Amino acid sequence: MATPNREPITVTRYTASARANHWVTAVSLVLLALSGLSLFHPSLFFLTGLFGGGESTRAIHPWIGVVLFFSFCGLFIRFFRANLWERTDNVWLSKLRDVLGGHDENLPEVGKYNAGQKLVFWLMSILIVVLIASGVLSWDQYFAHYTTVEQKRVAILVHDVAAIAVICVWIVHVYAAIWLRGTIGAMTRGQVTGGWAWKHHRKWLRELVTGKS
Ligand code: HEM
Repeated sequence: MATPNREPITVTRYTASARANHWVTAVSLVLLALSGLSLFHPSLFFLTGLFGGGESTRAIHPWIGVVLFFSFCGLFIRFFRANLWERTDNVWLSKLRDVLGGHDENLPEVGKYNAGQKLVFWLMSILIVVLIASGVLSWDQYFAHYTTVEQKRVAILVHDVAAIAVICVWIVHVYAAIWLRGTIGAMTRGQVTGGWAWKHHRKWLRELVTGKS
């Protein structure tokens, strides 16, 4: 008698280049948060030690922002279509109790991303544009002549608020990725199990299998 094949069926969710793009973005955001926080309040100044002191942190921080911006543009181009809002996303959102209770059977079939992931995606997109725009306006080394002191004050305030918001959105993103078992593998190995795809992103799996979108 043939022994049953016990290897789980796997489905490719991300290519190697999409994963590399994602991790460059993720590392940049962590470095930006650390260097930004170190300049934010005197009690966090000790964090400048990670970047070689106060002067170099101030010099490096905007450049990491530039890396994050262009890296995120790559993610945006790859994923914005799959994050476009659909009518079923409203239904999914209205059933948050079932989402949190893990009762996926009561939810509409989900495509590549659910409504929560889409909200995170669009919030990140908006906040990163706000961060780069306000960051450039307050980047004295190159742009001091283009803004008045008043404008720069407003830009710094907007930058700080957007930075705190993006850190909160990032915490939600990471928490959700850890909370839903089997999700991290999508961004590390590029693979998820067939069961994961069937349970959480059935519409996407159907489209993959049938080749129809
Ligand atoms: C450092 C911690 C991070 C972890 C552990 C993490 C983990 C993940 C995982 C597991 C996925 C796959 C989710 C799925 O396919 O269902 C994902 C997707 C994604 N991540 Fe992250 N991530 C991190 C940071 C970031 C940052 C900093 C950004 C952007 C600023 C980001 C943007 C994205 C985007 C755009 C996607 C595609 C999902 C979508 O378009 O909604 N991630 N992440």
